[in-house]
Amino acid sequence: MSRFFSKPCTRRAFLRASSAAAVASVIPLTLMCHKPEENELSGLSSLRQAAADKGIEFGAAVEAVHLKDPDLYDAFVNECGLCVPEWSMKWASVRPDASRWSWDEADALVSFAENHAIKVRGHTLVWYAALPDWAKEKILTGQAERLMDEHIQQMMTHFQGRICSWDVVNEALEPQDNLEGCLRASPWLTALGPRYLDKAFFLAAQYDPMAQRVYNDYAVESNPVKANALIALLRGLKERGVPIDAVGLQAHLSVTRAFEPLQALCKAIKEMDLDLLITEMDVEDLSPFEGNAEQDRRVADTAKAFLDIVFSVMKPKQILTWGLSDRHTWLADPKWNGRNPLGLPVRPLPLDRACLRKPLWNILYEQFEAL
Ligand code: XIL
Repeated sequence: MSRFFSKPCTRRAFLRASSAAAVASVIPLTLMCHKPEENELSGLSSLRQAAADKGIEFGAAVEAVHLKDPDLYDAFVNECGLCVPEWSMKWASVRPDASRWSWDEADALVSFAENHAIKVRGHTLVWYAALPDWAKEKILTGQAERLMDEHIQQMMTHFQGRICSWDVVNEALEPQDNLEGCLRASPWLTALGPRYLDKAFFLAAQYDPMAQRVYNDYAVESNPVKANALIALLRGLKERGVPIDAVGLQAHLSVTRAFEPLQALCKAIKEMDLDLLITEMDVEDLSPFEGNAEQDRRVADTAKAFLDIVFSVMKPKQILTWGLSDRHTWLADPKWNGRNPLGLPVRPLPLDRACLRKPLWNILYEQFEAL
């Protein structure tokens, strides 16, 4: 069996998931095993099937609480063969304080996924954000290595064998911080120096050797400085024998940003014999609003331009959108999307708020069909 999962759900995993289903009280059990009719809207099967036919796993970010909504539940099971928790495996969610671990939300999502042969990505083990204050304090007072080891061990052990791929380190680059290698100023860098990334990947290889180990970042498809910094970072990791398997391009795209460095970046990733994942795709459109149809067309055209370049170099192993329906998108959150002065509804995802397919869905489907 290959090092990564070739079978979506073993009997052992299903039995474990069934027992964990009790945990999944967040999702009504009547829904847990509900199999929706094939989506008749466009007569086409699903992104899950179209991608799988070409060896790509398609999925989306989601949380168990979102799946209490029957429309979204049906759409998710139909369209996605892969999922990633938007929040519930992050430090702030799993470790609200130093004395306890909070697993229920993440367990509910993993149980749901295993009940529908949906694979699960883990997000994320080491990140500068979503770090509780107590953790920052320990990291900055000499306990960084112990805390990193404990966290990666606990996370990977708790979900052992149930996570196909982990974002081991997320968003370690920030050119605006003007540090060596364009590294982002973070508690981890302050405490451990640049080799904190190496430590994280070696720990991940130690605690769940079967899970794919991914470095994940954003804006590298459009920012040449950050793209070159990523290439240098990856080359350094590979030269030091760091056990990294893949690169995640988050792909939070914008209709106004071009993809100048993208093709060279994908070629460099391929030359380093690393797998490529598209981990958090969505498309922001803050152009003057001219109606849903016009916005949906701009969003779809942007995604097509991005995927055309990526597919011209290599086929990603996984493609995920950061949410499946516009009903749940972080871009609608003023905290993250203060750039949307009119507070207009954003339409960055494959399904609209009614969970109906949009031009972006068609673009993804056509891209998979054309491979
Ligand atoms: C975001 C979530 O979508 C928000 O709901 C949360 O408040 C903050 O984090 N890159 C990442 C994701 O890797 O973890 C971020 O998710 C979006 C940017």
